[in-house]
Amino acid sequence: MIGTGQRGRNMAIRTKLVAGNWKMNGLRQDGAMLAHTLKEYAAAAAPGTPGCEVLVCPPATLLSEVGGVLVGSGIALGGQDCHAAPKGAYTGDISAEMLADLGCSYVILGHSERRQHHGETDTAIRDKIAAAWRAGLAAILCVGETQEQRQAGKAVEIVSSQLDGSIPHAASAATLVIAYEPVWAIGTGLTATTEDISEMHAEIRRRAPAGIRILYGGSVNPRNCPAILTLSEVDGALVGGASLNANDFWTIVSSYAAK
Ligand code: PGA
Repeated sequence: MIGTGQRGRNMAIRTKLVAGNWKMNGLRQDGAMLAHTLKEYAAAAAPGTPGCEVLVCPPATLLSEVGGVLVGSGIALGGQDCHAAPKGAYTGDISAEMLADLGCSYVILGHSERRQHHGETDTAIRDKIAAAWRAGLAAILCVGETQEQRQAGKAVEIVSSQLDGSIPHAASAATLVIAYEPVWAIGTGLTATTEDISEMHAEIRRRAPAGIRILYGGSVNPRNCPAILTLSEVDGALVGGASLNANDFWTIVSSYAAK
């Protein structure tokens, strides 16, 4: 695999990242209000806090509005998907270049909802990651097993094959973030145990480029985040439902304030 000889380098300087995935939620007014509140929280935060990078990934329709509000806030903007091509006859799709043009610095790729509802394969996801880099975006690659796969004892095998099939050879810690999101934990209120999270993150780290950030995702909320985000192998969170509430999202972000 990639960069295993370099494993462990930069361990101490992995900047934490808390990312909000708004999914298909919010009209313009909702998005603007949420962004305004987050900007206020960021402005009110004590110097040196929140102690992590903060990212929001609104639906494509809100990127322009939310990006405009967030200027000067220190909160980064990201897309939820992109097409592999830079432009062309792909009705309904959005290119990485278009996301970059709107001020995005990240794009989420390979989310299980895309894999499930749009039939995205590891190969297609690898092409999208390459497209993100072409446009100067960092990719957040989502991986994770289903309940059935975990019960069959195949969780590590599944995640490993997703990583092997979708990480381009040129991947580095600067251009790729991995989010481990057990499918059964997404939007269900269930979370993996801290032991399972640590085990999977350690496995991902063994297979991923040196110094890469590995986020946990799946029903992260203000109550469970202290236990999850302080695990040594966890470099942040990809937050869905709780990121739609400014107070909940900022409480999660603030987990890193005292670090
Ligand atoms: P959730 O979603 O926090 O609502 O479970 C996480 C995700 O899908 O990224």
